[in-house]
Amino acid sequence: MRIKTWEDYEKAYARSVNDPEGFWGDIAGEFVWRKKWNTALQWNFDEPKIEWFKGAKLNITENCLDRHLSTRGNKLALIWEPNEPKEKFIRLTYRELLEKVCQFANVLKKNGAKKGDRICIYMPMVPELEIAVLACARIGAVHSVIFAGFSANAIADRVNDAQASMILTSDGLYRGNKEIPVKRVVDEALEHCTSVKKVIVVERTQWAVHMEPGRDVWYHDEVATVDKVCPAEEMDAEDMLFILYTSGSTGKPKGVVHTCGGYMVYTAYTFQNVFQVEESDVFWCTADVGWVTGHSYIVYGPLLSGATTVMFEGVPTYPSPGRFWQVIDKYGVNQFYTAPTAIRSLMAMGEDHVLAYSLDSLKLLGSVGEPINEEAWQWYNIHVGKERCPIVDTWWQTETGGIMISALGNTGPIKPAHAGYPLPGVQPVLLDNEGKEIEGNDVEGYLCIKFPWPSMIRTTYGDHERCRQTYFANYKGYYFTGDGARRDKDGMYRIIGRVDDVINVSGHRFGTAEIENAINANDHVVESAVVGYPHDIKGQGIYAYVITKDQGAKEDILRAEIVETIVEQIGRIAKPDKIQFVPGLPKTRSGKIMRRILRKIAEGDTSNLGDTTTLLDPDVVDVIKNGYIKD
Ligand code: PRX
Repeated sequence: MRIKTWEDYEKAYARSVNDPEGFWGDIAGEFVWRKKWNTALQWNFDEPKIEWFKGAKLNITENCLDRHLSTRGNKLALIWEPNEPKEKFIRLTYRELLEKVCQFANVLKKNGAKKGDRICIYMPMVPELEIAVLACARIGAVHSVIFAGFSANAIADRVNDAQASMILTSDGLYRGNKEIPVKRVVDEALEHCTSVKKVIVVERTQWAVHMEPGRDVWYHDEVATVDKVCPAEEMDAEDMLFILYTSGSTGKPKGVVHTCGGYMVYTAYTFQNVFQVEESDVFWCTADVGWVTGHSYIVYGPLLSGATTVMFEGVPTYPSPGRFWQVIDKYGVNQFYTAPTAIRSLMAMGEDHVLAYSLDSLKLLGSVGEPINEEAWQWYNIHVGKERCPIVDTWWQTETGGIMISALGNTGPIKPAHAGYPLPGVQPVLLDNEGKEIEGNDVEGYLCIKFPWPSMIRTTYGDHERCRQTYFANYKGYYFTGDGARRDKDGMYRIIGRVDDVINVSGHRFGTAEIENAINANDHVVESAVVGYPHDIKGQGIYAYVITKDQGAKEDILRAEIVETIVEQIGRIAKPDKIQFVPGLPKTRSGKIMRRILRKIAEGDTSNLGDTTTLLDPDVVDVIKNGYIKD
């Protein structure tokens, strides 16, 4: 299933379009199934109903772990690099990882977890996080990982939406020079959750934490009492594997649902072809397992492929801006996959940090999460890749499960800041305002996908109609990505960015409504409007326009209070960059906020605000313009 040349790609692509079931059926045939499927694909985008390999039976962890034992039992599956460079790293072979997964799975069972239960995981980037994810999959429980930077409120929303029966967490967390009392945050969340019966706590920081009798247990106590073997639960290909919450244009994050069979086939296929990982290579994806990138390219894709991965607990700038490069040299990393925001922040700190390391082992670089600007691309190419490593700019989404548009190693042409061509099996189109396909090249439009691929979103948990409305109702017969894109003269795709009310801050998605709801929770606030604006490091920054009850009050104090409310409601990652207090918002006569005007002002461009005379209160635009916060 490995594509090695451009001809291989063209052949695979053509077959994936002409005979999708045969194409994916052959790839799926390389995995271990307890029972094969009858039909590879049944679908319609109207309901939507998408079923891949329906009726087939499997357990994804058998494919990630057990399957490799005869050939790769003693091969490293995981190399864990702690936050503190002086702390000892951890290495786990495939055999050891399987044993640990089975033990954790038995701990889950001992505490009452069973197939179909939803289990939330809120943990630092420690090996137990990966082990916990796989342990859930082992017993057929549905994992819902919540990035350990979200607030107690955000956890409670997700736990309640999924009606989770268990939370897996840790005592505390180290991230750079920050320390987060993870368990305390969970305790706070649980004051608002009735579905959770058990909390399993992994020891990471050895801080004293409250343990609720009857509810909370220490992982290290439990694990001492269980067996090292745990048979894998048999799952249908279309049984849920996980829920991952992501932001959209409405206030409430939605639980994107992925299923076992299709997700397995697609993440393995894309991992192998995009990154071109060889048997003895070491692969490093710097994402957090709390995001989809970590799910697909730290946990599942690499393990399904028998690869060795690095998992890193810390941040790129701690203890120095050379940390990434030091870790690459330390483990001889061959493929390195990170986000543009990290590259830009390291770029801003100068070349010396990267030039201090050899980086000889690198063969390929990857980028994900947001458009990479040309300057950052060049810096990455010259100083990290030494102009000898292909850069794969991988476009995809939580909803797509795996990489959709990207170069496949150096098998084809690569252009800075362009994701490139679609992967085999992916049929992108650009639509115009009327929903008509735009033919030919050198064109721009709404990016949609017109045919199913195995790891696509199946539903939004507990609310199928929301899934239909969000992704399948805008343009009948198409999956709508929410992104705008350009197809250049060579047919290569360049992602322009979101066309909906989603802001992408450092590769993290937030709905403007979600942040507005958080701001409005502050007692002093009457109303607010949030927009994104171009930010040198983060890609997009958050600009909030806020109307307060007590105009004339000390702005700095109010600002600090509002920030605190957002931290409480969502988490530190959603902190706005700029808060401007305004007496009113530009609204149409029907009361709709004219975000286009607010966006322009936030961009610092007021040259062409369009016709504002039809607004309810046209004068407010000048007041907002005059109060624009530059930096
Ligand atoms: O706008 C696109 C942007 O990130 C969005 C998806 O965000 P999320 O679901 O959090 O997943 C991020 C990791 C896969 C997309 O709608 N995006 C992602 N990758 C790229 C990108 N924009 C441009 N280029 C990319 N390579």
